[in-house]
Amino acid sequence: MAQTVYVFDAFGTLFDVHAAVRKHASEIGPDASLLSEIWRQKQLEYSWVRTLMGSYRDFWSITEDALDYAFEKLPGANRDTRNQVLASYRELEAFSEVRDVLGCLKANGARTGILSNGSPQMLDAAVGSAGLKDVLDELISVHELKVFKTREETYDLVCTRFRVFPEAVSFQSSNRWDIAGASKFGFHTVWINRTGQPDEYSDHPPAMQLQDLNGLL
Ligand code: LAC
Repeated sequence: MAQTVYVFDAFGTLFDVHAAVRKHASEIGPDASLLSEIWRQKQLEYSWVRTLMGSYRDFWSITEDALDYAFEKLPGANRDTRNQVLASYRELEAFSEVRDVLGCLKANGARTGILSNGSPQMLDAAVGSAGLKDVLDELISVHELKVFKTREETYDLVCTRFRVFPEAVSFQSSNRWDIAGASKFGFHTVWINRTGQPDEYSDHPPAMQLQDLNGLL
């Protein structure tokens, strides 16, 4: 069956999560890129652990908690940049091909959307600052469920919002764990492996693997 709905993970897939630290790298110091890696990894860990133990905090709060942890872990990194880095995270850049690909998909008759752990405010801010409002039909946040991906009901939000069965959805994510959850749910999945990561979750494989979104066209 051909997919008529294209849904994208937000952070790491459409938006470059490392752009915030990169912008302030010279003030942060030599540990900047390590800081960004630890920040992202802790942010994700908090989302999984909080979902497992049933103790939800919205994604912005865990993003702040994770950055504070990363600064604690790397005492050499300049903590005075904390608030500027967070402000930049609210206005992340989109990867260079994103706008054109989304525009082409829509011009070809597809419906488009985001499914993200990000809070509604985070999604609005990122989509607005990246200038993607007119190429995305729906911004879907897991926030209303108070659990994060990879819980099944988070993917089901897409079916409810677009009024389609899972097999009509092509789901794109750069996060392999997210692809595992989406494949298990029944979406047609495309792993956007931007950084050449090794494969994992072999019992829940993607239908396709691409380096960036251009291969969708
Ligand atoms: C998201 C994060 C997990 O946008 O990348 O859902």
